[in-house]
Amino acid sequence: MSKQTKLNIGLFGFGVVGESLWQVLQNNTSLNAQISKVCIKHPEKERNAPKELFTANPYEVLSDDSINVLVELIDDANAAYDIVSSALKSGKAVVSANKKMIAEHLPELLALQKEFDAPFLYEAACCASIPVIRNLEEYYDNDLLRSISGIVNGSTNYILTKIAEEGLDFTQALKQAQEKGFAESNPTLDIEGTDALNKLTILLVHAYGVVSHPSELTYTGIHHLEEHDAQYAREKGYEIKLVAHAHKLDNGKIAAFVFPQFLQKDNSLFHVKNEYNGMIIESGLADKQFFNGKGAGGFPTASAVISDLSALRYNYRYEY
Ligand code: HSE
Repeated sequence: MSKQTKLNIGLFGFGVVGESLWQVLQNNTSLNAQISKVCIKHPEKERNAPKELFTANPYEVLSDDSINVLVELIDDANAAYDIVSSALKSGKAVVSANKKMIAEHLPELLALQKEFDAPFLYEAACCASIPVIRNLEEYYDNDLLRSISGIVNGSTNYILTKIAEEGLDFTQALKQAQEKGFAESNPTLDIEGTDALNKLTILLVHAYGVVSHPSELTYTGIHHLEEHDAQYAREKGYEIKLVAHAHKLDNGKIAAFVFPQFLQKDNSLFHVKNEYNGMIIESGLADKQFFNGKGAGGFPTASAVISDLSALRYNYRYEY
């Protein structure tokens, strides 16, 4: 693709992120991109977009040669894998936000990218609006990474903040996270830590070149915590945060895990509230850096998708 190439997009999924992307592209003329088909389960439902845009038949998108980019924003990781691999095999560029699918299939997908010379980008899969994958991949490429430590799940951070600051109970806080479009359709993925685990699996690839399956890493979520744990921590000057962490050991191996942690004020992650994510990167040359931004929600996630769409036009590829 060149800078002049028009991006003719086939979109899978029209949930919070898909609809936000649609809205942004309606108003963004500088990107030279348009969504020409949207594949969803129930095309007959009334939505804020023209009816003729929607189809329930994936092949209407996959076999349309005029569509040169497929954006995959659905929930089901297995279906997503079939769609994405089929699109890459037909030479379409793919942008995806599907953390679970990517964490479970990244080596196969990058092999397809290479074999079919079709770019596969997924900045939206980790920390939404924080460009963490691209930073790890490019900025730190020749710097010795000591550790990455981050809040990578917006829903659990939102829940913990609301419990500690406003005294909400767990169920009320989760309901709000769902209503605001932060939580997964199946929120146990957030609560039990698997969403954070999937993101950590992807980050390990770009931080350390370590390819693992999420099932190989240790994790726990926030489901064992009681409301009074968060409030008690706060009274004592701590915040409980769900932290995804990885660091290089002296023997060169990488330790990686997701756990709730008690953090003190001097830790930048202490100050990350609500659906925000944060990432501390420690490296040999740059020392310690901190990234902070919205980690869930329609427009923050769409912003990462847009940035990938833009990167397609200068043929950007992730490699590891
Ligand atoms: N459910 C996810 C979260 C959405 O809360 O972080 C963004 O990946």
